[in-house]
Parts: sequence; structure tokens; C-alpha cells
Amino acid sequence: MAAANDRPRKVHIRTFGCQMNVYDSERMSDILAADGYAATDDPSDADLILLNTCHIREKAAEKVYSELGRLRPFRTKPGGEDRRVLIGVTGCVAQAEGAEIVRRAPAVDLVVGPQSYHRLPELLRAARKRPVVETEFEIDSKFGALDAAPRNRSGAAAAFLTVQEGCDKFCTFCVVPYTRGAEVSRPAEAIVAEAERLAANGVREITLLGQNVNAWHGTGPDGKQWGLGRLLFRLAEVPGLDRLRYTTSHPLDMNDELIAAHRDLACLMPYLHLPVQSGSDAILKAMNRRHTSEHYLRLVDRIRAARPDIAMSGDFIVGFPGETDADFAATMALVERVGYASAFSFKYSARPGTPAAEREDQVPEEVKSDRLAQLQALLRAQQAEFNRSQVGMTMEVLVERPGRHPGQVVGRSPWLQAVDFEAPVALIGRIARVTIAAARQNSLAGRLAERLPPGAVEAAA
Ligand code: 5AD
Ligand code: SF4
Repeated sequence: MAAANDRPRKVHIRTFGCQMNVYDSERMSDILAADGYAATDDPSDADLILLNTCHIREKAAEKVYSELGRLRPFRTKPGGEDRRVLIGVTGCVAQAEGAEIVRRAPAVDLVVGPQSYHRLPELLRAARKRPVVETEFEIDSKFGALDAAPRNRSGAAAAFLTVQEGCDKFCTFCVVPYTRGAEVSRPAEAIVAEAERLAANGVREITLLGQNVNAWHGTGPDGKQWGLGRLLFRLAEVPGLDRLRYTTSHPLDMNDELIAAHRDLACLMPYLHLPVQSGSDAILKAMNRRHTSEHYLRLVDRIRAARPDIAMSGDFIVGFPGETDADFAATMALVERVGYASAFSFKYSARPGTPAAEREDQVPEEVKSDRLAQLQALLRAQQAEFNRSQVGMTMEVLVERPGRHPGQVVGRSPWLQAVDFEAPVALIGRIARVTIAAARQNSLAGRLAERLPPGAVEAAA
């Protein structure tokens, strides 16, 4: 549909929450680009503003409503132009709240759940006439429709690739099985084809995404049942693809073939996000995690035996209903035992509709805050120590973007730290050898440890 005037339409997408949302925002941008929308970072320049929302913890919906309030001034274009700005809410809050959003925030034209993004252009056309709410689950058609969309228009060196969505685990604190629905794996051939397209467009590193990514399974081109391990072995053969990662995993789905992939594939980066949530068996049981702390620790030992330099990462929840001081001490002990290179930790947040929210033994807020502070102090110390242990090391860094200072670039280490060093921007998209000179809490600083390839020198001169 043609714009009201000749200027191309512009879309501003604001992303909240997890990497799946980052991926979804990129794909929405791809789909809208095919429909004539250019992306803009400036909401005041946009004809369409999308909030891609997250619902995992409390107040998410409230935050969306206040954000919508802040967007109100952008709704009419300056200069009295007769071009209405459309506002849409996507992501998990859209899925969970549905029509309630339009009721509470009449400025919203469009509410779209994560399974319907491929239909955005037609939904937008309808939304110009009246508000549209679309929160059906039809994930197969979404994956199918996404297969054909272009990838990596921005020329990035690293990209996400969703292989699985939804979750059947039903941890008692979590809304994901309700907002993202049942676990669905994308077919192996479609994933390989998308990886090949990404690599052909200059992507060197792919992170496979899924709420429960290591539960991915499907029929391979050989007609056999594949798991994520087998898929990684296949993706390792894609020409031009130097690095693979995947996130986020459940301990129960870490099978032998996946561990073997960590042992045998140099391109599978030595970093694993493997949430455990708690170190207490009583709490793990109440969370319906279906494993014990011992099971998790044994698993970490096996993974480390396969890939000794692997950096472990995880998620933790403190103050789950009924959590005692002893339960919390067990979490601290588990963290001491594992030694994390990075981690995410949260206060338990009661999510309406989840079993744990109904419990009467909720932990007082001050206790949660106190435990979170203790846990985060330990995790930060472990992260700082891990980063310090790499000073003096020479490692391969995938250069992703210009740094904050002129003459500087920033890339990723194999262990997922950001590394900044002085080098020409022509190195972006390449893997450079860098010697680490200093460690910070969340990043590393280094020096280029190789002579620049001739192309880079010429481009820099
Ligand atoms: N309260 C606090 N943290 C939560 N997470 C998920 N649901 C909740 C909740 N209700 C955390 C878990 C999960 C991460 C994505 O978010 O640690 O692994
Ligand atoms: Fe939520 Fe992860 Fe548990 Fe699934 S496995 S219910 S996504 S915490």
C-alpha cells in the first residue's frame, strides 16, 4: 500500500527482554522492510512505533502502559502533517494482555502476539481503520513464512537464529509456557538453509535461540531424529560460519550428543548458559525443575570434562516461596562449587496464573533483597576473577562494531566477553587475534596481536 506521500514509511522498534525478542524485532524489521518500511532509531521520525515487550517478571505490563503514555506525544506528526503514527504492542505482554491493552491505552492501534509477526503487513493495513488484536497460536505458519524473509540486511558479523519456541517444562514460577505456548521445533532443513543464507551474507557467528533450545528436535535430511547436538555438527559444516552458540538450555535436555558437540567442535564456543535457579533440592522440587543440585553439578563436571575451558553461566531466583536461610545457603554453596563466568539473578516475582504465585509462604521483600545482594556480590566476584584470569592471554575476537573511542573497535571473545582494542574499523566482520591487557567487571581491553591483513591496512590508510 502506498504511503500518504512519497516519503518511505519508517518504523521504530523498541525491544525489551530476552534475545528471542531481539531476534523477533530483527525479523519484524525484515518483514516490514519488504513492505516498504525503513528502520529508524528516532521515534519522532517514525510512522509506526512497535514496543516488543517482555512479561517474565512483575510490573512488565505496568511498564508497557507507562511507556505507551510517554509515546503519546509522538502520535501526531509535528507540523500538523496528516499522517497518523501507528502504535503497536508485540511480544509476551501483547500475548498475555491482548485486548486489555487497547482498552487501557486507546492510543494503541495494534496488539500482536509472538506467533503472528509474519502477518504484520496485513495486520497493519487493518489497524489503519480500527484497532487490531491478534494473539492466536499458529507457530508452524510463522516459521514457514519466516523462511523466505531476507536476513542480515544490516551486514552484522553475528546473528541470532531461532530454532525452537515455547516450553513444556512448566516451572512453577514461569509464564513462558503460557505466553509462548507449547514447545515447537523448527525443521532442521529450514534452520540449515537460514544459516547458509546468513553466512553467505557475511555472518561469522550464529547463536541458536529457543526458550528451551536444547529440547530442539526434528527429522534430519537423513530421515533420522536429530537433537541439538546433531544439528550443531551439521551447522559446523556451513561454509563461512566460524562460530556457533546456543541459548538458553535446561539441564534435563543436556544429552550426550550435545556434550560431544562441545568436545568435538572447535567452532562451538566455550560458553554455556545453563540455568539452575536454585541450589536447594527442596526448592528445585517446588519449582518443578525435575532435577537435583547433585544432578546439575555432575552435569557441569561432564561438560567440563568434554570442554575444559568452558565458561559457565546461569540464572538464579532468590526468595522463591518457602525458601529458608538453609535453602539460600545451598544456592550460595552451589555457586561456589561451579564458579560462574557470568550469571543473571533475580528476586522471585509472583506471576499471576503460575502455581507458585498461589502459595501463601511468600518470602518478604527485604529478605529477597538481602539474599539477592549476597548472591550478586558472589557472582560479580566470580565474574571479575574469571575476567582477570584472562589477562595476558591471546584469543580470537570476532570484531563487531566501532568502539566508543575513535580508532577503537569492539568484538566478542570466545567466552562472550566484550573486548575493545585499537584497530581500523575495516576489521569489523573479521576474527582478530588480540592479547588481553586489562580486565574489567563486564569486559576486557586488549591489543591487536597480529599484523593487519593487507585489505584492512589499505582500508584504514
Ligand atoms: N521471578 C523471577 N525470575 C524469573 N525468571 C523467570 N520467571 C521468573 C519469576 N517469576 C527468571 C528465571 C529464568 C529467567 C529467564 O528469568 O531465572 O531462567
Ligand atoms: Fe520457564 Fe525456562 Fe522453566 Fe520453561 S524451562 S518454564 S522457559 S524457566
